[in-house]
Amino acid sequence: MNKKIAVIGAGNVGASTAMYLAEANFADVVMVDIIEGVPQGKGLDLTQAGPVRGYNAKIYGTNKFTDIKGADIVIMTAGLPRKPGMSREDLLNMNADIVGSVAKKIKQHAPQSFVIVVSNPLDLMTFHMQKVTGFPKNRVCGQAGVLDSTRFRAFVSMELDVAMTDIQAMVLGGHGDTMVPLPRYTTVAGIPIGELIAKDRIKAISQRTAVGGGEIVKLLKTGSAYYAPAAATVDMCRAIFNDEKKLLPASAYLTGEYGIKDIYIGVPVVLGAKGVERIIELKLTKAELTALQGSAKTYKEHLKILGY
Ligand code: LAC
Repeated sequence: MNKKIAVIGAGNVGASTAMYLAEANFADVVMVDIIEGVPQGKGLDLTQAGPVRGYNAKIYGTNKFTDIKGADIVIMTAGLPRKPGMSREDLLNMNADIVGSVAKKIKQHAPQSFVIVVSNPLDLMTFHMQKVTGFPKNRVCGQAGVLDSTRFRAFVSMELDVAMTDIQAMVLGGHGDTMVPLPRYTTVAGIPIGELIAKDRIKAISQRTAVGGGEIVKLLKTGSAYYAPAAATVDMCRAIFNDEKKLLPASAYLTGEYGIKDIYIGVPVVLGAKGVERIIELKLTKAELTALQGSAKTYKEHLKILGY
């Protein structure tokens, strides 16, 4: 394969991402982790699944950051996951150190790459990644909106007992409990969910989406979700590689859109070969805009803790 993706972190999110990437069969995958043997073992295991699963992507693990050389996309998953009772923001300082040191290595070894950040707290870590790499802002974005929207889609499907793939949804804002699900822009085969689901149920589904990551943390007890985050990340890689110009929510750098600036936050973007090619500014209701701006305000405060 002539495309290469580097996945930083061979934990649950990193390894699941590598697995879905291998199955997508559009790039070779290198997994990097500081723990000796783990990325190598998981890489070999995934390679051995190839003949049965029918993929030819080369996939391997390493402890050497120099191996990310030539990567077209770098996916940042390394960092500590939440434990029950923790918010994503509780991870701020610990993960900022990890993201900062990885960012320097990405800058050094894969200076032309696109970076998709998955580590939490997502929007803040994406900001930190862009600042430390100094990469153009279209080349650094955060994966959260696709995950939050796919959760919303799954819940709508469960509610109505209709095909998940028929459901489109849009969730904006920070990847935290202040996220802003937009039921107005959520449809089943083009039909707004307001025509299919009672108001109080839509409210309940939106609320469940907003705390959807926490629900899984509570169940797992030792970490956070990984299949859906990984699947969402691979969707974004595909959009970049195939120049799909896919309209999806992602954490992007705002320069005044929605009355917000100098911060990364979840908004609808067009993702293609140039990365974040455009930010789409929707006409939000007053309540939606207030919620989005409120979400941004929280993150501005958190960025101060990081010295920005
Ligand atoms: C979640 C974590 C991974 O939402 O942020 O599941």
